[in-house]
Amino acid sequence: MVLKAEGISKEFNRLKVIDDFDFTIESNEIVTLVGKSGTGKTTLMRLLNGLEKADKGTISIDGHYLCRATPDGKTEYVSKQERKKYSNQIGMVFQDYQLFPNLTVVENCIEAPVSQKLLTKSEAYQKAEELLSQMGLSAKRDVYPRTLSGGQQQRAAIARAMMLNPKILCFDEPTSALDAETSNEVGKMIQKIAASGTGILIVTHDTEFAKVFGTRVVSSDIFSGHNEKE
Ligand SMILES: Nc1ncnc2c1ncn2[C@@H]1O[C@H](COP(=O)(O)OP(=O)(O)OP(=O)(O)O)[C@@H](O)[C@H]1O
Ligand SMILES: [Mg+2]
Repeated sequence: MVLKAEGISKEFNRLKVIDDFDFTIESNEIVTLVGKSGTGKTTLMRLLNGLEKADKGTISIDGHYLCRATPDGKTEYVSKQERKKYSNQIGMVFQDYQLFPNLTVVENCIEAPVSQKLLTKSEAYQKAEELLSQMGLSAKRDVYPRTLSGGQQQRAAIARAMMLNPKILCFDEPTSALDAETSNEVGKMIQKIAASGTGILIVTHDTEFAKVFGTRVVSSDIFSGHNEKE
């Protein structure tokens, strides 16, 4: 088991979005998350990435904890240092990619690992070049993100997210801005990443994409009141 979330709850202004939900992602697995608008798909992904705080529950990746359930039915987040270890296990590709506009493609890739001193500059460049080549973006290494097409920005964002070899990689609506052919290419790229041992979570409205590329389809309609086991 790679990612494990147990008894997760989250409410916004007394609106229970996620209620006592259990969820796992194994390595090699591509979990596609589908469901009606407003049912908490993005919220779940943000909770797993530590961008939003859960009210209750335990979240861990391979024994690295983000938060732990407490005896009084709440949750406690780990120290900053422990949290960094957790965060390095998980990556996220945002719907709008969120590339740094003032950095080139290769600089986007090396920024976090170098500034966090997780890789030396030369290690980071080497890794970035490998990933950009895998993504078919070697020729775009030194250009700024605004000059890339949507599909190219998506691939640059994937390369950036892969820099620290995360065990889990999350995608929020990866195909919403792409044509059918490019969506298919992105799906195949995600399959390759999963085959190399990374667990994948994809939030999507594209039910066809979810079925074709998901090894397991989960519906967010069960987030409040029920959990995955039921
Ligand atoms: N920061 C926030 N503050 C208040 N309410 C929020 C916040 N984030 C999400 N919500 C609410 O939580 C619910 C779930 O939102 P979320 O974005 O997770 O849904 P979603 O399943 O991703 O929807 P969509 O398919 O439209 O992207 C919604 O009712 C939303 O209004
Ligand atoms: Mg959403």
